[in-house]
Order: sequence, then structure tokens, then C-alpha cells
Amino acid sequence: MSERVYIFDTTLRDGEQSPGVSLNVEEKLRIAQQLERLKVDVIEAGFPVASPGDFEAVKRIADEVRGLEVAALARANQRDIDTAWEAIKRAASPRIHTFIATSDIHLKYKLRKSREEVLELAVSAVKHASSYTSNVEFSAEDATRSDLAFLAQVVEAVIEAGARVVNIPDTVGYTVPHEYERIISYLKEHVANIDRAIISVHCHNDLGLAVANSVAAIRAGARQIECTINGIGERAGNAAMEEIVMILRTRQDVFPYHTEINTRQIVPTSRLVSHLTGMVVQPNKAIVGANAFAHESGIHQDGVLKERSTYEIMSPEDVGWSKSAIVLGKHSGRHALKAKLEELGYHLADEELDRVFRRFKELADKKQEIFDEDIEAIVADEVFRLPD
Ligand code: KIV
Ligand code: ZN
Repeated sequence: MSERVYIFDTTLRDGEQSPGVSLNVEEKLRIAQQLERLKVDVIEAGFPVASPGDFEAVKRIADEVRGLEVAALARANQRDIDTAWEAIKRAASPRIHTFIATSDIHLKYKLRKSREEVLELAVSAVKHASSYTSNVEFSAEDATRSDLAFLAQVVEAVIEAGARVVNIPDTVGYTVPHEYERIISYLKEHVANIDRAIISVHCHNDLGLAVANSVAAIRAGARQIECTINGIGERAGNAAMEEIVMILRTRQDVFPYHTEINTRQIVPTSRLVSHLTGMVVQPNKAIVGANAFAHESGIHQDGVLKERSTYEIMSPEDVGWSKSAIVLGKHSGRHALKAKLEELGYHLADEELDRVFRRFKELADKKQEIFDEDIEAIVADEVFRLPD
């Protein structure tokens, strides 16, 4: 059996930080229930101190969604941690997730604190959170732009203070895969007590590398991945969960790890999140985009109709699509048209098919995409029309 990678979904926290997105309590609860169906390991339900609405949503989720861990975010101070605990204390399995930045750039301009002060705040936050629960996660914000020796010092100290999960975020989507792999390997080598905690990663997509960085970190020893549905999130977004899960599943030969995600719930979850957030999924988005399993060119359609694995590396049904879409357009051939006709219930003689195909090609030259209704109209005209 391959090693387990835990999926920490932050759609309801970092995902909701997407510009223009604001979910109400009922909407958050619906998404949380769907994430439970998807079988994620942890949901970060929100940042309770941020607003009364966020507090209420986290509390409702903690009370009503019982089949997974519910995490609440808190900065490294007593008030945030107390509020986070108040919101999640009735969860079946609550987790406090506390964070502080460790990069010099954040220390100098944002926190205006020395490294010693930050180290002390991190340790006392973890100790305070541990007085409520043993399930404490610590994040070193902007870890990938931090001095590595200082990062290692903080990580060692927070594990000593009780952190069970240590998260090494690429907060501004700055790192690249081989560098991230080196950072995680460095921590594995230089943090004496690292085996007492799960290493987590949390990647933003500013350079389009969030998913690549996440899987590189798994190679180096990370066993929790923080991600969102459809990759939504702050700025260019977070690592897309569906892509990470399907990389691990499709490429077991190079990534011998697994998640417990029920992949058939991926597309329904994507649709729900898109619908409730109003964030449209681009058609060519991997796994969940409308074109992700659509074959337009005649050569590809012919190949897929003969044997799907010619042009499909995953099965669309495995991620929750009902079937691969044969999209008819000017590049489509006779085979694809015949398959579409059969899908619509028409089994034509060769000579009828010739006529319908000729008409179809004429129309395809004038129209970008041919819909089922167009085909129905051609069949009605060419095959079923009574002679004048
Ligand atoms: O991007 C980030 O660093 C975060 C932390 C709060 C984990 O979202
Ligand atoms: Zn983030």
C-alpha cells in the first residue's frame, strides 16, 4: 500500500479570500457538507476573529459536519486563538491553526518585530492553543522567502511547544519545484524533532506553479497538502485540489502516495463551489473544465472511439463526469458523427450517413460548434423528410 497524503481543504478560508467572493453561512455549510462527501481529511472552515459572520459559519460547520476535522485560523495571539477555539470547540475533531510570518521582509515591514520576538510569539501561541487541544497546526507565513536557519529554529521550537502539524507555506507563490523540494529536505535534515510532526505545504499560484510545487514537496516528505476546489483563493489562487489528487492517482508509478478522496465527487464539488462563489471555471481547466475530456479533432475523436486510452489519461467517470464529450466541429470525421448520432438514438444506413455527413460538413464550415439540435435538424431533413 502506498503512503497516505492528507488533504486539507481551505476553500472556505483562503478560497473565500478570492477577490469578489463572499459566502453566507448557509452557503458555507453546503460546501462543507459536500467536502465531507468528497472525503477531505480537514476543512479550514474560516477565520473566526475576522467577522461575526465568519465566526457563526465556523461554529455551524463545527456543530453539523461531523465526519472530518474542522480547523479554524488564528494569528499568533491570545484573542484570535480564544475566538477560534470558541467557534470549533464542539467539533467532532477540532484543530486550531495558528500562524505568524517568518521572512525578514514581513518582520521588517508588516510585523515590525525582531526574529527573537517572532520566535517567542510563535511558541507562546502554540502553547496557548495546546491548552485547548492537542490538535494544533502552526504555519510559518512566507516560509519560502525566510532565512532557512531561522525557519528551522522556529519549526523545531513550535514542535517542542506542541504543534502536531507544521505548515511551510509558499505564501506569495514565489518558489519553484526543485527549490521547494530543497527547503523541505533541509527542514527534514536540520530540525531534530521533525518526525514528531506532519509536514504540510500550502502553495499560492502567482507563477502558475502551485500544483507543481505541492507535488514536489510530497517527494521531499510533506504529507499534508493545503488546497482549494478549482484552485480559487487570494490573488492567483491556491493549489487546485482536483489536480493534486488526480496527479497522485494517475501517476502512481512516479508518485507512490494516495489520498482518501472520493474522486467521483470532484466534478459535483467543483460545480457547487463555482455556482456559489460565482467564480466561473475556465473551459480548459484540468479535470473540471468543460473541455477537459472533450475531443474536437477528427483524429482524436477517431482514436477515442476506437480506444479511449489513445487520448485520455484518466477516465472522465472517475472524476464525476457522465461521459467524455464528443464535440462536433469542422475537424470532426464520420466516425465521430456516427457515434454522436447513435448517442442521440439514430442508427443510419451508410447511404443516409453519407448524406447527413455532407450536410454536417457544410454547416461546420459556417458554425464553430455543432449542437445536438443541429444534428437533429439535419437528420429530420435528410432522413425523415417525406418527398415533396
Ligand atoms: O498563504 C499563507 O501563508 C496562508 C497562511 C495563513 C497559512 O494562507
Ligand atoms: Zn494562503
